[in-house]
Amino acid sequence: MSGVDPSQRVLSGMRPTGRLHLGHYHGVLKNWVRLQHEYECFFFVADWHALTTHYQDTRGIEQSTTDMVIDWLAAGINPGSATLFIQSQVVAHAELHLLLSMMTPLGWLERVPSYKDQQEKLSDRDLTTYGFLGYPLLQSADILLYRAGLVPVGADQVAHIEITREVARRFNHIYGREPDFEELAESACDKMGKKSAKLYRALRKAYLETGDQDGLLRAQALVKEQQNITLADRERLIGYLEGTGKVILPEPQALLTEAAKMPGLDGQKMSKSYGNTIGLREDRDSVVTKIKRMPTDPARVRLSDPGTPEKCPVWQFHEVYSDVDTKAWAREGCMSAGIGCLECKQPVIDAVLIEQDQLIARAAPYEENPDMVRSILLEGAEKAEDDARQTLQEVRLAMGLSYR
Ligand code: TRP
Ligand code: SF4
Repeated sequence: MSGVDPSQRVLSGMRPTGRLHLGHYHGVLKNWVRLQHEYECFFFVADWHALTTHYQDTRGIEQSTTDMVIDWLAAGINPGSATLFIQSQVVAHAELHLLLSMMTPLGWLERVPSYKDQQEKLSDRDLTTYGFLGYPLLQSADILLYRAGLVPVGADQVAHIEITREVARRFNHIYGREPDFEELAESACDKMGKKSAKLYRALRKAYLETGDQDGLLRAQALVKEQQNITLADRERLIGYLEGTGKVILPEPQALLTEAAKMPGLDGQKMSKSYGNTIGLREDRDSVVTKIKRMPTDPARVRLSDPGTPEKCPVWQFHEVYSDVDTKAWAREGCMSAGIGCLECKQPVIDAVLIEQDQLIARAAPYEENPDMVRSILLEGAEKAEDDARQTLQEVRLAMGLSYR
């Protein structure tokens, strides 16, 4: 397989919901920013996914896409490090989705928990559609198209990564058989050198004959450690272990994004539908007013009533924004009734405003010139298309559709 190392590749997508809030920033985007320095990252706008639930009214999608991508850039996602693109601009997602749909049992899709959940939650819409049922499979295609090994997602998306793994396994099982696979795998094994080859064969035998899981894991690790074999050989050796065949579509893993450190203004999860958000780029007055109006520990009726920081959403903001000394000051002042709640909120207000200034400044050039965003996304789509084409070539070849 052409030079891709799945364990170094990260892919994630976001529906075009328009402007993002600080929950997205602290929960998702800062994580993406970190990953972009460590891995080869693909981040895309899942506009077709938006259609699975919002097909009735599609007029806002383009604007929402631009607004959201500007927020990505404001957060520090760097188009020089990560590939940013719009799903519908890389039509290969549709081809792989179609091909995978041929071999995906209906039951797998019907059993994805979000299928029934969302239908109930969004009961004002008709979601008994083909596209909505197939949405997790479209997500599988998004991931497998780039042979991404790591997918940062929230807990609600883990089931989708799981089905992606099943689909990949099934695909490899059905189509991953080269006519001379065994020979190729055996000669790949020899290329590891005498000692490793011997160990590999022993571990493989133990696994195939007695189901020794530990042997399987050790053999997989052994293959991954090899520096001097090609990626194609590495994949043959991995496939050969379980007796399946060549791995054409590697199974991804979820990189679970930790549950939001950043709560909403009322202490619940920050979410547009709860009306408890601070925007990622919001004007100063509005930020100040929102924080000043935040509820605090209800026990602090009068200034002289002591409080419990754990019962106060402002404290959770301190946890995100304040240094050790400020936190100690707030905690102590709260529990001894030494400070008032407005006083306690001031350092949080200051810190959020400083953060906002940075975000707003980074967004400004793009706001003034949205063409810059468009060209970043076009360039990203071209890069993504190159990678997608390579996977699809192998997929077509394996399926007997290469017409060469
Ligand atoms: N389904 C994801 C969501 O609703 C978005 C998404 C689409 C995605 N394709 C993806 C996330 C691929 C990770 C990988 O949040
Ligand atoms: Fe919350 Fe601070 Fe008031 Fe304590 S003093 S209740 S932590 S705002």
